Amino acid sequence: MPKKKWWKESVVYQIYPRSFKDSNGDGTGDLKGIISKLDYLHYLGVNVLWLCPVYHSPNVDNGYDISDYRGIMDEMGTMADWEELRDGLHSRDMKLVMDLVVNHTSDQHRWFQESRSSKDSPYRSYYIWRPGKDGKEPNNWSSEFGGSAWEFDALTGEYYLHVFSKNQPDLNWENKTVRYEIYDMMRWWLDKGVDGFRMDVINMIAKHPDLPDAPSVDSSPYQWGGQFFINGPRLRYYLREMYVKVLSKYDIMTVGETRWVDADMARIFVDEYRHELNMLFHFELLELDYGPSGKWEKKAWELSDFKRILSDWQKKLADSGWNSLFLSNHDHPRMVSRFGNDSTYRVESAKMLATLLHTLQGTPYIYQGEEIGMTNVRFPCIEHYRDIETLNMYEEGLKNSKDLKELTEVICEKGRDNARTPMQWNDSSQAGFTEGTPWISVNPNYQEINVEQAQQDQNSILHYYRKLIDLRRRYPLFVYGDYRLILHKHTRIYSYLRHWEEETLLVILNFFEESAVFTLPERVTFKNGRLLIANYSDINEKIVAEDLNELSLRPYEARVYLLD
Ligand code: GLC
Ligand code: CA
Repeated sequence: MPKKKWWKESVVYQIYPRSFKDSNGDGTGDLKGIISKLDYLHYLGVNVLWLCPVYHSPNVDNGYDISDYRGIMDEMGTMADWEELRDGLHSRDMKLVMDLVVNHTSDQHRWFQESRSSKDSPYRSYYIWRPGKDGKEPNNWSSEFGGSAWEFDALTGEYYLHVFSKNQPDLNWENKTVRYEIYDMMRWWLDKGVDGFRMDVINMIAKHPDLPDAPSVDSSPYQWGGQFFINGPRLRYYLREMYVKVLSKYDIMTVGETRWVDADMARIFVDEYRHELNMLFHFELLELDYGPSGKWEKKAWELSDFKRILSDWQKKLADSGWNSLFLSNHDHPRMVSRFGNDSTYRVESAKMLATLLHTLQGTPYIYQGEEIGMTNVRFPCIEHYRDIETLNMYEEGLKNSKDLKELTEVICEKGRDNARTPMQWNDSSQAGFTEGTPWISVNPNYQEINVEQAQQDQNSILHYYRKLIDLRRRYPLFVYGDYRLILHKHTRIYSYLRHWEEETLLVILNFFEESAVFTLPERVTFKNGRLLIANYSDINEKIVAEDLNELSLRPYEARVYLLD
């Protein structure tokens, strides 16, 4: 039975600060902008805010390239603003979780500047330097953002490793001084009142000590070396050490971003007695529409896979551990465009997906704009795109004379900028995000899809989220109840039971725009059922149990019943 914790009972709201709210008209969202929206977040009902990086950064990767861990970048404001944000949250009984990016720094970080200055610098081994091999890179690894994962630095005649862009050199975690610097920095923020960390690519910090070549799967000179830089042999040791030196001393929450981790491995990371991390962001669901060559190849996702993966995680983390529940963040397309229907059934499907995320066992994470059903964007040309990953891919595609139309199509569907267009506050110019020119264009649909509109419409997605969050607060069953999948083989419906003490919850979700028939399995017996929430507003609040034996569901219909 799960142990009670504040972060299990929380709903987290993720803010991508550049795109949330601009307070001074320079076109970039900032801390003062966030502060001006705290009442809105409170009204929504969330109780934890996860803030993507706001530290000093040249912004090659929008803050995921940090040049000073202990300062706030000018565009975002000042440390005084950050303190005001922290206090504003705490006074509303809300918590603040910060992004922790310690697999790499910016190449502008003082450590790296020192490190590259000479082979004898005490900072040299803060990073991963190697001489070339036969006039080429030390190994054949590709960077996650394209090209080689190694950059030659003429100053000392060696290469440094960067799993992401060349401006994001990887830290050398084998060096104890590096680890202790990081623990020190973490304690510094925790002492300033931070309530937890979202740990960026945390299972990449331990590399295979030999840095071996990756096996070649195609003819390109660079190959994905994930098996040698993800879940490396010393990872457990580092996480354990971090727990002992830092995490164990505070009542905080931690969530690790871990690509390439399945539910069996996850059990080890989040086991409550091992004390590594509280939750993980895994990629199994999000990679369902990746083709064999990866993210940029389109593939249709299947409901059967969706159910299988979620059920696996629900079951395997049920006894010891905890799930994070999310379908979107700043690195992925908008959830309603990807797993729902962002045209005719935008409202219905966004509510259906929200129902899923708030009725499973785990902690829900809402990505900004999801609560009003923001959609992917279709920019007219490449000049509108800002993301380094997308731009690198496009350039490489052009070099390899890929079809321009296909490239643009896949960017529209898969690019990270889909999630990064400005938050849509109202129907005034630039969606009320800025008085100036936004750093990335607003989605033209802001005139219909915006917070102000949603607040006025009692049937909006926003009000539905508020209701879901409220239900989680009122019923421990939503949070702690166990999970049992029913109708395993149904091709349109995802349905499950949750059970806690004397209460049982029945969740029924039609994942498609075709109607579907729900029939209660014979082994499920109960006397009465009461509808707690549904995404079609016309159904009676008090439908009785007998009706549940056979239900006809409309497109994307979602219903949640309390059974007794
Ligand atoms: C994570 C972040 C992503 C970033 C990358 C490198 O995946 O979520 O935005 O580009 O790490 O830090
Ligand atoms: Ca600003």
